[in-house]
Amino acid sequence: MHPIRGARARWGRDLLQLVEEHYDNEPLMRLAGEIHFDMPLSRADVEAVLRIYDRPAPRTVYLPCAGTLRHVAPLLERGCHELIAVDLSLGSLSAGLSRNVPSSVADRLTVCQGDVRDAGEVLPREGAELVFLGGNSLGDLTDPDGHAELIAALARALAPEGVLIFDYVGDRYLPGPGTLSTEWPEILRTADGDIEVLDRRTRSVSPLSGSLMSVLTFTCEILEVTSGAPVVPKHSYRKLIVPEALLIQQFRQAGLKLCNVGPVAEWSTYHRDRIAQTGDLGMLGEPNCWYRAVKDPQRSGSRSQ
Ligand SMILES: C[S@@+](CC[C@H](N)C(=O)[O-])C[C@H]1O[C@@H](n2cnc3c(N)ncnc32)[C@H](O)[C@@H]1O
Repeated sequence: MHPIRGARARWGRDLLQLVEEHYDNEPLMRLAGEIHFDMPLSRADVEAVLRIYDRPAPRTVYLPCAGTLRHVAPLLERGCHELIAVDLSLGSLSAGLSRNVPSSVADRLTVCQGDVRDAGEVLPREGAELVFLGGNSLGDLTDPDGHAELIAALARALAPEGVLIFDYVGDRYLPGPGTLSTEWPEILRTADGDIEVLDRRTRSVSPLSGSLMSVLTFTCEILEVTSGAPVVPKHSYRKLIVPEALLIQQFRQAGLKLCNVGPVAEWSTYHRDRIAQTGDLGMLGEPNCWYRAVKDPQRSGSRSQ
């Protein structure tokens, strides 16, 4: 695994807390309903992404915010040749390398730990034909400057006329005023067998002053059903919510033509069936949509600009 220079210096307190408490959290990754080791879901994601891409399988795919690398094997199986994966979470990347990535593909995969905004040094100079940002990751940088830097970094990573595909829930999963509490039974998969747990989350939204954007704050705690003991202590994490018209404008400013191509459930029977059977909520459910952004060739100067 390659470290990306300069990453730590850029992390704000919010991002550091998000990664340490939420994404590096091994028990949280092991919940049965979570995405991190769900290969059928990851294969269905990739199937949809390549249909949305609608071009011959790309040679190089860049996976920003790659998490547990769950899209690596499906992309290689579908004819992509070389992958570059970047994420801040050492816990996710390490768990993914040991559980989601067969050792036989190691020579076609470069894994880097660091901030996507600093990833230029590990990306191809000519840019990637396809950038795939999965798992509703766009809103993880909740300060507006960080968010703008993220979009600019994604644009720089693309080859001229290259395509960025991502899923985003946006403002389709907002609670009303106040705090909404939800609780559901879950299974924690451990080396010693399955444990019944309770997944307790709250959601509340606050507008970002001077902006049309808002921040959705979640709290999350996982409790063992029999003892009530915390398996994952209560912590919070946040997502930036950008209304669609503003998102299109932000992408245009970065030289990307953005299009919402429809709910994930409309692109895949697997997603549709999963939503119907398990009653998946916002981040995996009905409000989640696929987006396709194409890089304007007129804006494809040197990546260092
Ligand atoms: C919701 S998870 C999705 C992971 C993966 N894409 C998937 O679909 O399973 C978001 C990931 O983005 C990473 N992340 C958030 N902000 C980042 C940044 N600025 N640079 C690198 N990784 C980041 C987190 O560490 C986390 O692993």
